[in-house]
Amino acid sequence: MGWSGRKILLGITGSIAAYKTTWIIRQLKNNGAEVQVVCSPDALGFVTPLTLSTLSERPVFSEFVRSDQGEWVNHVALGMWADLMLIAPCSAQTLAKMAGGLCDNLLMAVYLSARCPVWFAPAMDLDMWKHPATTRNVLELVSRPNHKMLGPASGALASGLSGVGRMAEPQDIVGALDQWWSNNKDLVTAESSATMRDQLILITAGPTREAIDDVRYISNHSSGKMGYALAQVCLDLDARVVLISGPVSLPPPHGLFAFIPVESAMEMQEAVKKYQEQFDIGIFCAAVADFRPVRKTEGKVKKKDGIFPIELVANPDILAEVGSKKRSDQFLVGFALETANGLAEAERKKSIKNCDMLVLNNMQDPGAGFGQDTNQVTLFSAKGITELSLAPKKEIARQIIQHLLQCYSPA
Ligand code: C5P
Repeated sequence: MGWSGRKILLGITGSIAAYKTTWIIRQLKNNGAEVQVVCSPDALGFVTPLTLSTLSERPVFSEFVRSDQGEWVNHVALGMWADLMLIAPCSAQTLAKMAGGLCDNLLMAVYLSARCPVWFAPAMDLDMWKHPATTRNVLELVSRPNHKMLGPASGALASGLSGVGRMAEPQDIVGALDQWWSNNKDLVTAESSATMRDQLILITAGPTREAIDDVRYISNHSSGKMGYALAQVCLDLDARVVLISGPVSLPPPHGLFAFIPVESAMEMQEAVKKYQEQFDIGIFCAAVADFRPVRKTEGKVKKKDGIFPIELVANPDILAEVGSKKRSDQFLVGFALETANGLAEAERKKSIKNCDMLVLNNMQDPGAGFGQDTNQVTLFSAKGITELSLAPKKEIARQIIQHLLQCYSPA
């Protein structure tokens, strides 16, 4: 594990699981990370500052003022310093304060100042975890950009009861961090985060369904995986992401600015229109059905023998419409799926739809395309033509955004 130079703010709160965090510090340090511990006052009833500072090789902060030296602890600088803030264990009390934005101790001031992703590992008794107030607080937190909850796990609790509420196991927390760093190796740099932070990214994903009658529709095999992976990468970079999605079986990523589920191309068009003026980067990944039945039949069309014609009409081309109204400070990415003349068609579509970048899906490769977990694409942009190798869609999403960052500068 190479975490050299990664800066982690480790928040510890008042829970018996705090003793396990000492192991986390040791692992993070062994992996090469810098760890700054910030405790809530209650945490110090469970672990001593001496243990924590010895393991982290840094002073431990818990008060606004270091009483021994009369020195003010700069919570803003701490919040800006970190690449990631991890609060483990996160007590019911701290969870509630985070959800409510309360600032009655240094840890909360650091949390409110942090610009980096915030991960938290709740730890509490099972009834506290199940309480509607905790549920509400958790829902609030996981819906915030760049917030990620780890656990809680199920098992023996300090109360003697057994159930959900244990802090996620320390090795799982370290494992999740390791995976995150390796997924974001060269992407989450200060520079790329600064470019994407707070940018409004509009993403369309998935297929559309065009109703024939109340139970039947025309659609395609799009799974939405590519668009959802792109949304996650943009979220990892602190962007505000609006995801407009056709019907898919994927859960929307946590922390979206808005999630708008739609069925048909017309509904997708309406949703997109609302963000035409606001978006900074538009990524049109959806496999929009090109045609819809001229009319939808009420109820269910009765089965009959022989030929049953369905009259179709072309759907609006949402991307072309957005492209025609696009301002010069807006960056537009289109996708194309071609079975013949891919390169020429991609260039043509990029131009007629006024895109700044076009992603051509290669249908020839057996691992690429609809429903697969892998994809093989070619990128067309001001940087020329770039062919990416077959890779998992999550990796392809990272590379697409990495390429985009080379072409895009915010207004
Ligand atoms: O013309 P074609 O369907 O190949 O173009 C694909 C690109 O255009 C994709 O980015 C897709 O999301 C977008 N598109 C759209 N509305 C349509 C058809 C395609 O936004 N009706």
